[in-house]
Formats: sequence, structure tokens, C-alpha cells
Amino acid sequence: MSETPMLLIGFLQAQNCTNLPASWRHPDSRTDFLSAEYYREIARILERGKFHMAFFDDRLAMPDRYGDDHQHTVEYGIRCVKLDPVVVLMTMAMATDRLGVGSTCSTTYYEPFHVARMFATLDQMTAGRAAWNVVTSLNDGEALNMGRASAPAHDERYDRADEFMEIVLGHWQSWADDALIVDKVSGRFADASKVARLDYAGQFLQSRGPFTVPRTPQGQPVVIQAGQSGRGRRFAGRWAEVVFTSAPTLDSARAGYAAVRAEVGAAGRDPDNVKICNLVMPVTGVSRAEAEDKMAVLTRLPLEVDQLSLLSESLNFDFSRKGLDEPMSDEELAGLTGQHTHRDRTIALSGKSNPTARDFLKITGRGTVDQAVVGGPREIADHLESYIASGACDGFVVAATHVPGAYADFVQHVVPELQRRGLFHQDYEGPTLRENLGLATPSVVRG
Ligand SMILES: Cc1cc2nc3c(=O)[nH]c(=O)nc-3n(C[C@H](O)[C@H](O)[C@H](O)COP(=O)(O)O)c2cc1C
Repeated sequence: MSETPMLLIGFLQAQNCTNLPASWRHPDSRTDFLSAEYYREIARILERGKFHMAFFDDRLAMPDRYGDDHQHTVEYGIRCVKLDPVVVLMTMAMATDRLGVGSTCSTTYYEPFHVARMFATLDQMTAGRAAWNVVTSLNDGEALNMGRASAPAHDERYDRADEFMEIVLGHWQSWADDALIVDKVSGRFADASKVARLDYAGQFLQSRGPFTVPRTPQGQPVVIQAGQSGRGRRFAGRWAEVVFTSAPTLDSARAGYAAVRAEVGAAGRDPDNVKICNLVMPVTGVSRAEAEDKMAVLTRLPLEVDQLSLLSESLNFDFSRKGLDEPMSDEELAGLTGQHTHRDRTIALSGKSNPTARDFLKITGRGTVDQAVVGGPREIADHLESYIASGACDGFVVAATHVPGAYADFVQHVVPELQRRGLFHQDYEGPTLRENLGLATPSVVRG
């Protein structure tokens, strides 16, 4: 386990709700999610709580796999608004000084040069606080929005993503640290011997260069990844500096932690240089009783259609074609091209080789607060501490039941308790995200 104190990352959505679709119906949810001030307020709360990073997930489509239609999505507000997260991140970065800012971006639907330039620019504009969550995207809605007929097959997405990473990192490392001169007297702007051209030609992708953004204050943006299938973990082992996991129990988190670290080692990298953060959704207050009262409000919010819609989205399968208690066929299970983790976990935990839609709903908990951790400051801190102490993760991706209230509660009640126990830092270690995460700043020396 790493020496760095527990890492905390806010799991944000640039949309009308948190990743709990029902959150917009919560009495305390702010509704001005189309305003910069909404996101700035969340950023200020996270920075007050010394969170390491505000991180945005992303999808390039609203959930419309269920019934092959978007009407229910829009009517019930099931994550149907999605702003461009990198643009939103800039507004948050301008309202903060130390908070890291990370966003998801797809390797399947963008060009690597574009992604390399966007995140390098974000890193320059935030003085070294940027991170990129690498995803390969999941479903046909995204494919159709981006001019393709369907999502590519699961493992092929990762094969292509390997080349994508070679290009992005290649470009990020094409300017030496000291390439810029900017000497008005000699007239030399930069040392040409210190700016290389990539000239990359792979099986799937090509990119020439030279890259147009010099090295950034933290060397290059931090790379995050959340692949959880065998192929996804292999990819994370090769590339990720921060890994997100969503293990629902301590035992599965420990197994996942060991598996990701083994993949990092197998890729010839030091597992201690990769930080693994597990998903948690806390419901807290001044006491356990207050947290339980809050949970009672929350459990009344989700609708079954929220769950079915999100599950159809992430598995890339239309659950409206099946009865809730009708077993999935072998062909249907084998043909799922979305998140394989949900499929594999449901088969394992239901004990059925052909689970039903209801099994999927129950075991994945998509769209509900079933997997929330409820308690006062001590109980929540105990929960987080038990994961860190038993080698299940290095930190947490903290999901919110509603915003900004859930983060305000966590920062007011839980963060001081974690700090009192010496589990969480009292202040930021430095100006860059790498310093705060305990990651080395990579260096490019040339010439
Ligand atoms: C905390 C967390 C955040 C994620 N955010 C996104 C996201 O924003 N967009 C996305 O398409 N997938 C996201 N994923 C899904 C992963 O990228 C990955 O596809 C998923 O965990 C399944 O693993 P696999 O691709 O190896 O099958 C996220 C996963 C986790 C655990």
C-alpha cells in the first residue's frame, strides 16, 4: 500500500443530476445545472474539503437503449443533459487554486492529436492540475451520435486505445522540458533540437506531429483509467496512473486492488506509482440518526425506469425486450458489448448462469442508493479506514446522492474526522495535481 494519505476524488457529472438519475428530484438539489456558478460552487466545496480532484464522467449520448427511445429519458431526466465536461472544468478551475480537475474523454470517438492538445492545454491553463480519464465508450447511442453504426467490440476498443495512448503520450513527450527559450535578444524562440516529431503509424491510427503544446507545469496530465474486465485491467496496468474501481464489498475491492497492481507489475511498472480509488456513495450528517433520516428521503426517489434505462445504457442491451423475470439467453449474454463487469458480477453473485433483468438490477444497484454507506462522521470514517487499512484501495471516488449538499455534508462532517485520525491530508502538498497525488513529475530531456 502507498505511503500517501488517503486520496479523495469527487465523482461529478456535467448534467442535470449526479450519477444517481433521481438526484434532481431531491428537495435540496440545485436546479441551475446549466450555469457556471453551479459547478463553481461544487468546486469551492471540494477545495474547502481538500479533495485532490474534481472528476467528470462522460458519455457521448443520453441513455436511449431502453426501448430504443429517448422519451422516457427526457421525461424522467435520466442523465439526459450532458455538457462538455472539459469546458465546465475550466470554469471550476478558475474558481479554485489547488483542486485537480479531471475529465473523461473517449479514445473511440476522438482523434488522439485532439485529445492530447485539449488536455495539455487544460494542464497549461490550470498550472498543472489536469487529468484525463481514458474510456473506450460503451454503447451504440454514442456510436450513432459520432457517425458510426454501432460500438466496436469490447476488446478491439482496447487494442485501438493502446495505439491511441502511444500517440497521446508520444505527443506529450515530444517537447523536452527546456525546449522553450523565448529570448527576445537572441531571437531564439525554442531549441529545435528539443522538439521531436512523432511520425506514428499503427494498425488503427496515425499521427505525424510535431505537437503544438510545450511541456506543462506537471510534465503532462495525469492519466486515469477504470477498465475492470481482464482486457480493461491489462490496459490500466500499462497506462494508468490513477485507477478507478467500483468493487461493492471489501473482499472484492481487495481482490481488485491486488489484480490491478499485478497488471501494473506485469507491464513492468512500479505498482506503488499507481493510485487505486474505489467508488463510494456516502450519506452522512452530524450523526448516524441524521444520516438515516437523509437516507429515508433518498430511497424514495429512484424509479424502476431509471434503473432499467441505465442498465440498458451500460450493457448496451435493450432490457425492454425481456420480462423482468425472464432469464437472459446464452447468446444475449455473450453478445453484450457494454460493461462486462456488470455482466460478470451479476452472474457470479446471483449464482445463475442465465440471470434475469431483476438480478441485474439488484446486483448492480444501477440508478439506486442501495450501495450507499450511511452513517455519522465516525461510521463513514470507519468504513473508509477499513478499506485503506486492509489494502483494498489508496483512496475513494466519492459519488454524490445530490449536489452540492452531499459534498457539503461530507466536507463538513467526515473530512475533519479523517484528518483527526491522520488518514487524510490537512492541506494540499503543492500546486500541481501530481504533487498532491504523490505521483512523480515525468521529465523529458533531449539534445
Ligand atoms: C468510477 C468510474 C467512472 C467511470 N466513468 C466512465 C465514464 O465517464 N464514461 C464511460 O464510458 N465509462 C466510465 N466508466 C467505465 C469504465 O471506463 C469501464 O468501461 C468499465 O469499468 C468496464 O470495464 P471494461 O471496459 O474493462 O469492461 C467508469 C467506471 C468507474 C468505476
